[in-house]
Amino acid sequence: MTESSGGRVANKIAIVTGAAAGIGRAIARRLAEEGASLVLVDIDAAGLAETKRLIAAGSQPAMTLTADVTEEEAVKALFALVLSAHGHIDILVNNVGGGTSGHVWEAKVEDWDFIMRLNLRSAFLCTRAAAAHMRERRAGRIVNLSSGAREGTPWTAYYIGNAAYAAAKAAIHGFTRHAALELAEYGVAVNAVAPGPIETERTAPGFRQIEHLEYGPIRATPLRRIGTPEDIANAVLYLASDEANYITGTTLAVAGGR
Ligand SMILES: NC(=O)c1ccc[n+]([C@@H]2O[C@H](COP(=O)([O-])OP(=O)(O)OC[C@H]3O[C@@H](n4cnc5c(N)ncnc54)[C@H](O)[C@@H]3O)[C@@H](O)[C@H]2O)c1
Repeated sequence: MTESSGGRVANKIAIVTGAAAGIGRAIARRLAEEGASLVLVDIDAAGLAETKRLIAAGSQPAMTLTADVTEEEAVKALFALVLSAHGHIDILVNNVGGGTSGHVWEAKVEDWDFIMRLNLRSAFLCTRAAAAHMRERRAGRIVNLSSGAREGTPWTAYYIGNAAYAAAKAAIHGFTRHAALELAEYGVAVNAVAPGPIETERTAPGFRQIEHLEYGPIRATPLRRIGTPEDIANAVLYLASDEANYITGTTLAVAGGR
């Protein structure tokens, strides 16, 4: 859907972090299809260019910004740039995240710190910058990416470990809830989406290796399939749209019933 025909987020300015691949790319494409003007942020410039290319013809032109969203100064500069280009921000999707750390009895401190930084510090820095602006405007939508891992992931726990990631994604839930309470009186909604196993270029080979095993992701998912990036993009679109006007502080599981 294009600007001329409206769309569920028509004419909204939307920043998506981690938009060069996987779920972030799908979110950016879906928001653009529904009429938003996208600001695509990532450390991967080539991937950003590809997302920009994939954004449907007829959508509003997307802006790409190469930045590391775990760095305070980079995030400040990025928000200043977006505000000078667009004048305001309607939607922020904190999608950057991930990382592996091994079983808890052997995990490295550097991996723990990296995962906290990638998942939590990035969401904090971008939310802080967006919230200061949205609070003044008394409008805005922030959507964070948590994970089914916030309650522990059977296949990851059994085969490779990654308690740091589970801890970071549980923290995203708490951060979302608290930021929503702080911002509610200013008309700014903060929600999260918690994906189950989602097939992307990065995750597909790993899922294929373990899907037939006892604790494999398909067996552990009641809907008996791995999710798609579009499943997550649709949920983010809903929370970013006016259809979710009375929803804040919630973490929406999009995890096939898990
Ligand atoms: N794929 C899944 O199964 C799954 C499940 C649950 C939750 N999630 C969450 O969904 C989100 C997206 O997952 P994905 O699988 O698409 O990830 P991905 O690794 O495929 O993509 C992440 C993107 O973020 C970018 N990035 C990494 N570090 C960055 C930084 N410091 N600054 C800016 N950009 C950076 C990468 O270049 C990449 O384009 C993450 O928060 C992830 O934890 C994914």
